[in-house]
Amino acid sequence: MIQIGAPLAADFTNPLGVLSDCHRRVERFLQLLITVSEHAQGGPLSAEQRDALRLALRYFREAAPMHTADEEESLFPRLRRAAHPRVAVVLRAVENLEGEHEAARFDHLTVDLLGRRWLANDSLPAERVHELRDALRRLETLYERHIAIEDREVFPLSRLILNSADIATMGQEMTRRRGLESAALPVRSTAAGGCVMPGPVYRYLSEDHARLDALLNRILAISGEIDRIAEAEFRAGLLKHISMEEKILLLDAQRRRGGEPLPVAAKLRADHGAIAALLVPTPTPQTVAALRSILAGHNAIEEGPGGMYETCEQLAGAEVDDLHARLRAAPEVPAAAHVDGPNILAATRRALLRAGFEKEANSLTTEWEESA
Ligand SMILES: [Fe+2]
Ligand SMILES: [Fe+2]
Ligand SMILES: [Fe+2]
Repeated sequence: MIQIGAPLAADFTNPLGVLSDCHRRVERFLQLLITVSEHAQGGPLSAEQRDALRLALRYFREAAPMHTADEEESLFPRLRRAAHPRVAVVLRAVENLEGEHEAARFDHLTVDLLGRRWLANDSLPAERVHELRDALRRLETLYERHIAIEDREVFPLSRLILNSADIATMGQEMTRRRGLESAALPVRSTAAGGCVMPGPVYRYLSEDHARLDALLNRILAISGEIDRIAEAEFRAGLLKHISMEEKILLLDAQRRRGGEPLPVAAKLRADHGAIAALLVPTPTPQTVAALRSILAGHNAIEEGPGGMYETCEQLAGAEVDDLHARLRAAPEVPAAAHVDGPNILAATRRALLRAGFEKEANSLTTEWEESA
């Protein structure tokens, strides 16, 4: 029986060993997904298949992204900094791997959405079965190469060139990423522009941005038809994200500043109003494009250097873990059904104009007047 929380062969004093162990799990859970989807072919699932599907989906949803973060945030940057003649060659392979992690994210999202739909309905339409099989095949091919390059080239070279302090810090970062230890306040950037180590609040919310961006890209991905599951998940996720920022993060910063809101708070709240207004009508190519455009600038203000997330972490100081825990415990936000019609569209346009999104407001006008 495979358990997500089962102990790994290596511990975090041997972070490269942990990364290799994770590859074995990726292989096992991917094979589990392939076996279930090939045996059941979109039909009713036996209790055993249902458990396997649920477990594998959960592994890729919760545990696998930490492996990607371990490599992208803890390992690859340290390799880049090391001066060794073989590094340039391996780094080229690493750059391809980072691109592959991006592609894998999209396929994982497809597998997750379709797998959950299968669990919910106990069946999957034939075209979705094909979509699921194609995504799983692409992941299988990608991981085969990815894991081979990392296990045979990247990890052995890392063992050779990283010093014991680097290895120890990597292990601590990986432990902290899994919430297995109370994180010390990360080292901050210096006036001379030293490296900023993002803290748990930053990582939690910027990963949520990436997840929501990927869902947004799926909403109209298939022949212009709305993907209702992706759309519902995007909408619920974004409303919860906004609520976490407004009710927890911005208020926490305001309290720590003696009641004075962050200078950027008014702008972010106005953006949130525009974003929430765009979630009211049934999505159209225009509302999706407007959301993309607004979120690109908005997320950059939050995640960028010296941005809202970093400022909030600095203000929280040693209590950053507590702030992170409160975000993780935030409740879901109930989403009402979509409402359409000229009044709603006019209200959405006004909310966009109020927040200074004139271009986006005008892009909606055409669609509504055409459909009026
Ligand atoms: Fe890996
Ligand atoms: Fe926000
Ligand atoms: Fe955000």
